[in-house]
Amino acid sequence: VDEVEITRGGRERLDELEPLWGVLSAHHVAVAPQLAELWPVRSSSESWARWRAFYEEWLADPDAFVLVASAGGEPVGYALVDFHAGEESWSTGERIAELQTLVVTAEWRSRGLGRRLVEAMFDELRRLGVRDWSVAAIASNADAIRFYERLGLTPYLVSFIGRVP
Ligand SMILES: CC(C)(COP(=O)(O)OP(=O)(O)OC[C@H]1O[C@@H](n2cnc3c(N)ncnc32)[C@H](O)[C@@H]1OP(=O)(O)O)[C@@H](O)C(=O)NCCC(=O)NCCS
Repeated sequence: VDEVEITRGGRERLDELEPLWGVLSAHHVAVAPQLAELWPVRSSSESWARWRAFYEEWLADPDAFVLVASAGGEPVGYALVDFHAGEESWSTGERIAELQTLVVTAEWRSRGLGRRLVEAMFDELRRLGVRDWSVAAIASNADAIRFYERLGLTPYLVSFIGRVP
């Protein structure tokens, strides 16, 4: 992983991320087959078009950022972070950082790159004076949940989905 470089960017980096989005989209199919009957996964190009539009919107905030990990000039992972207002019922900071997407290509997993991306995110958040952060994972993504628990995170909301009878 020493040959992997992590750089901070904004909207100008979005086009580079589409193949990595495809990796995450395939991962959704792999970890959540039980959701498919209720909510089939969108094609990677369709979900990318939707996410890209949100990424554009979030990255209009100059404090929001994407950290891109590159090896030999090729992107091999990214972490994209934006902010939302502090919680009403809980005493949080005025802004909470949301790790919207974290992905590392399969070849580069389990070598500490995911952790390095999160640590680079911490550096940015400390610089911005943001204390609180959150991330959501699909309930059946056990590997990612273990990764987040190891980072010391506490489970927060449980959300349910279903059909209107
Ligand atoms: C989650 C992820 C970003 C972690 O990056 P990483 O570089 O593999 O992480 P690190 O090497 O720093 O840490 C390894 C740990 O990550 C976790 N992990 C999560 N998903 C994993 C995967 N598909 N393969 C291997 N390890 C994974 C495990 O807890 C692993 O620990 P272990 O080796 O004891 O099982 C990366 O594995 C990934 O992109 N997974 C698929 C997409 C995903 O689930 N993203 C999170 C969505 S909320």
